[in-house]
Amino acid sequence: MNLATRFEARFGRTPAGIWRAPGRVNVIGEHTDYNDGFVLPFAIDRFTTVAASIRTDRTVRVSSTFAPGDVVEVDLEGLQPGDISGWAVYPVGVLWSLEQAGHRVLGMDLLLDSDVPVGAGLSSSAAIECAVAVAANELFDLGLTGPELVLIGQRAENEMVGAPTGILDQSASLLSSQGHAVFLDCRSQESRLVPFPLMEDGLTMLVIDTRISHSHATGGYASRRRSCEVGADVMAVAALRDLSESDLSEAAGLLDEETFRRVRHIVTENARVLAAVKLLESQGPRAIAPLLDASHASMRDDFEISCPELDLAVDIARDAGALGARMTGGGFGGSAIALTNNDDVGRVTESVTSAFASAGYTAPAIFAVVPAEGAGRVE
Ligand code: GLA
Repeated sequence: MNLATRFEARFGRTPAGIWRAPGRVNVIGEHTDYNDGFVLPFAIDRFTTVAASIRTDRTVRVSSTFAPGDVVEVDLEGLQPGDISGWAVYPVGVLWSLEQAGHRVLGMDLLLDSDVPVGAGLSSSAAIECAVAVAANELFDLGLTGPELVLIGQRAENEMVGAPTGILDQSASLLSSQGHAVFLDCRSQESRLVPFPLMEDGLTMLVIDTRISHSHATGGYASRRRSCEVGADVMAVAALRDLSESDLSEAAGLLDEETFRRVRHIVTENARVLAAVKLLESQGPRAIAPLLDASHASMRDDFEISCPELDLAVDIARDAGALGARMTGGGFGGSAIALTNNDDVGRVTESVTSAFASAGYTAPAIFAVVPAEGAGRVE
């Protein structure tokens, strides 16, 4: 049954349209977004799709194919952070966020479907937010731009979900274009599409989902963010973006050892993003492989957001012939990416799978992704 038919069965009316938004991998630039820095993600060919109609009252009814059962009903009137739990917080959070930004919206009927794996560090939550955001933008005739919708999604995530995340995920989902990565300056929100030709160069981008689920609403993510804020305060800059590698020796003298390593990751990671963009534009994706490796080492040793499963995935992928590999996303679980020659995909997949089995880890999910088109209407 297609989504429109399911919508009719669930809500007793036809949907006004169908929109979709992709998940993402981040090629490089991790935890740099909330430091006003640089990121280079691309949208992947895994999408959240939403069939949607607007209502004449202020009730939102949400249902999905991935959490079957009852329709969740929420009244937008007087809605506050903390009022909703479960996955419905993402779609409803977007409508709440639109209202907070001064846009008058009505209720909606929403039916969601998704093939973005949840908790895998591939931005399944941003995909939901962005699918609903583009649907609402069109149905309520709001005329918001991609970068404006990014901030709507981020606010939903920060205030309704309670995860202090930056703009990486929503930007990737909304601003991407097929065959390209998005080079984004998170301070100005200016972005540029950079060609990322995998097929033409005989390359595959593998995702290795460790199946270690993570959450950014608690723990490590927020504490890394606080360390970065402390680092910026002590160094008397607005954000760590304002430091360069030549400032690191001064930082070493002023910061405690752990905060220094956090700061060093952000400063060197920003430099790696800029280097990766240059190499991509002059030589193509193959040339950025060593930067992926260096980024992973920095996250493992300086920022300390990797985990044994991610380190094993990266090490074994590389030993089996991957050109470069790193964890992607917020860390503490989720996925790694491995840039691999097409001919080596089988060997990398088998080696990582058997290393996980030998270590007694849950079997990883390993699959190829390509740079896909950002969010938009499909029907
Ligand atoms: C998560 C957050 C992003 C970003 C990354 C780390 O995906 O949602 O805002 O901070 O972690 O780069």
